[in-house]
Amino acid sequence: GRVNTSDVFGVKNSDLVPGKYEGGLKLWEGSLDLVKTLNSDIKDDRLLMEGKHVLELGCGHGLPGIYAGLKGAGLVHFQDFNAEVLRCLTIPNVKANLLKKSSQGTSTSRSIGFYAGDWSEIDKLLLCGDAVQDKITNLRTENEGYRGYDIILMAETVYALDSLPSLYRLVKKCLHYPSGVVYMAGKKHYFGVGGGTRQFLRLVREDGKEPASCMWRRGLNYPS
Ligand SMILES: C[S@@+](CC[C@H](N)C(=O)[O-])C[C@H]1O[C@@H](n2cnc3c(N)ncnc32)[C@H](O)[C@@H]1O
Repeated sequence: GRVNTSDVFGVKNSDLVPGKYEGGLKLWEGSLDLVKTLNSDIKDDRLLMEGKHVLELGCGHGLPGIYAGLKGAGLVHFQDFNAEVLRCLTIPNVKANLLKKSSQGTSTSRSIGFYAGDWSEIDKLLLCGDAVQDKITNLRTENEGYRGYDIILMAETVYALDSLPSLYRLVKKCLHYPSGVVYMAGKKHYFGVGGGTRQFLRLVREDGKEPASCMWRRGLNYPS
């Protein structure tokens, strides 16, 4: 269904109310770019989705996560700042597109989860949820540590300068080491809020990591 900020949050025609509503009810162009990039990487054998554990951060409509599920991901977790967004938008979308397909036997997704909260503390829930799932599916051995997500997807999540450090810490905590990959779609600079892909990549480089440029930039509408 269609929902708007006025019905759900009592704010009219707003893309963002910092700390209250973080833009999840609107479909941002970055998520479409991200789906296109996943699609072409799968087609070109650069990405295998089957059986993978996938996390979509700042999901809103959840299109990239849904796409991952349709392409055979074994586990898909959706995270948004607002529980209202998950309830009114993400979950209905997942039900309509992924669970329906699952019941028809056309999707191999084994597990789907929804998590609301701030990036600075959501790791406790996410890591715990994934660990429980790992136990159920026997993907974790006695000696193995926490498995982490194979693929983290995020579209239009790097707009606010203040939240970039907590987002980066979360990505590092949740990503499978050493083979996990992050697909990020975003704008080089978000006017008025100060963040952008450049600022996020600066954090990554300051941490001594060199992002694979093909993963971080290809397919986006905003070339560097
Ligand atoms: C601009 S919306 C993008 C939504 C969707 N990915 C899209 O492209 O259509 C930003 C998303 O990041 C999430 N987000 C922003 N700041 C956050 C924070 N500090 N903690 C958790 N989630 C946050 C919001 O809930 C929202 O879904």
